[in-house]
Amino acid sequence: MKPIAALSVTPEVYPLIKTGGLADVAGALPAALAAEHVELRTLCPGYRPVLAALEKAEAVARFDDLFGGPARLLAGKAGGLDLFALDAPHLYDRDGGPYAGPDGRDFVDNAYRFGALAKVGAEIGLGLVKAFHPRVVHAHDWQAGLTAAYLHYSGKPRPGSLITVHNLAFQGQFPATVFPALGLPQRAFSIEGVEYYGGVGFLKAGLQLADRVTTVSPTYAEEIQQSHSGMGLDGLLRMRANELAGVLNGIDTEVWNPATDSMIVAPFSAKKLAARAENKKALQARMGLTSAPDRLLIGVVSRLSWQKGLDLLLACLPFFDEHNAQLALLGTGDPGLEAVFQDAARHHPGRIAVHFSYEEGLAHLIQAGADAILVPSRFEPCGLTQLCAMRYGAVPVVSRVGGLADSVIDANEMAIQANCATGLQFSPVTSEALAGALRRCAALFARKAVWKKLQLNGLKTDVSWSNPAKHYAALYREVAPA
Ligand code: ADP
Ligand code: GLC
Repeated sequence: MKPIAALSVTPEVYPLIKTGGLADVAGALPAALAAEHVELRTLCPGYRPVLAALEKAEAVARFDDLFGGPARLLAGKAGGLDLFALDAPHLYDRDGGPYAGPDGRDFVDNAYRFGALAKVGAEIGLGLVKAFHPRVVHAHDWQAGLTAAYLHYSGKPRPGSLITVHNLAFQGQFPATVFPALGLPQRAFSIEGVEYYGGVGFLKAGLQLADRVTTVSPTYAEEIQQSHSGMGLDGLLRMRANELAGVLNGIDTEVWNPATDSMIVAPFSAKKLAARAENKKALQARMGLTSAPDRLLIGVVSRLSWQKGLDLLLACLPFFDEHNAQLALLGTGDPGLEAVFQDAARHHPGRIAVHFSYEEGLAHLIQAGADAILVPSRFEPCGLTQLCAMRYGAVPVVSRVGGLADSVIDANEMAIQANCATGLQFSPVTSEALAGALRRCAALFARKAVWKKLQLNGLKTDVSWSNPAKHYAALYREVAPA
């Protein structure tokens, strides 16, 4: 197979900067695609932690005025990646996260911060860097959405373009007043271009102008073409249906390897599943849960937001008393939700434990020690925690939406007989249906032989990047110019 060079344009990338699964995906793609003879380099903003991690940095381009200040494009290695970091202190050298300040409010100049990212991504695609000529530019989410627009309106021979939607809920909508500074030709401000409801739509622009649109699971690709899940963009997505594909994410099976994971207490594998018990014990101790090897322990690792449906769990708390089960929740987000879960923990000492922080080590221990992992999302483009769960012998209990529907095989009696079940699904996404799923989970947990089969089927499931990487590589080769 002929090698091909490609550029990934992303606002976050593991292990350098992460707020969600997008970072995991952007971080894993280069190694996964290398196996398909794709040389994928990554462009991301030069936030403080990115620049701090950059080794052997070399300035490969300079800009006198990039949206209000001088900037440099640095090439180097960081976190095992071949990275381009956009060093633009006036845009990225500040306190807070990648999108919002320490007060949690979005930065007011996000249109320019990510306009700059997209513009430089497009310029690399058009030949800015002497030693690297990508034939495909792959943009992720709204933050990189304008990349396809800059390429399209450049009027130059250009590489193929692709945008991946990781979450349609975040669209990058800005008032029309930002348009002049973006440096696009006036005609770009139209319905065929970047204009969206009178303003500038970064994601809309990408969906409109990229050669191909992908999202992170086949079911989500279908859902977002329907008016109830299309978040206003379903019409455009239906129009692009022939160029739209759902590619189910994988996880990095090196980072998530229960046999070698240094963040857990006892490594294990399908053959040594009994060793999981040590992790359960350590998890119970760490979270302040009663030490009880035989009680059903349900884990949650999640952002706490409306999307994730964890508020539905609050109506199901009696389940934990009635079934003598335990809950270990790790999450951050909505302060209101944190407060009610904190309250629940106070009223159920030893039974319900919560931890409101972002902690990778604890996330791994929960996957390794919990019996089941709960993901009750209202919508879920893909979801990675259910994939991690299967890799770690925890049984996923998920709502039947998006990538959750595509990745978990429900343990109905037929699937149990056929020995292909990997978890539990419930629908509709209501607290009643969730309570039903929890009761079903407890009943299955009591059937020890069946439960072990669910675990082993999960452990056997290929959740790696190997298949999805083939799919992306094929798409890259389709859109690359001859
Ligand atoms: P999303 O990107 O919508 O938040 P995903 O399931 O795709 O959901 O990805 C979430 C990623 O973030 C997973 O790698 C998960 O392990 C991790 N994660 C989420 N919350 C936490 C947390 N509080 N601490 C550590 N890791 C977390
Ligand atoms: C988004 C989605 C999540 C998906 C992740 C990576 O954050 O919410 O479902 O797994 O992107 O594609």
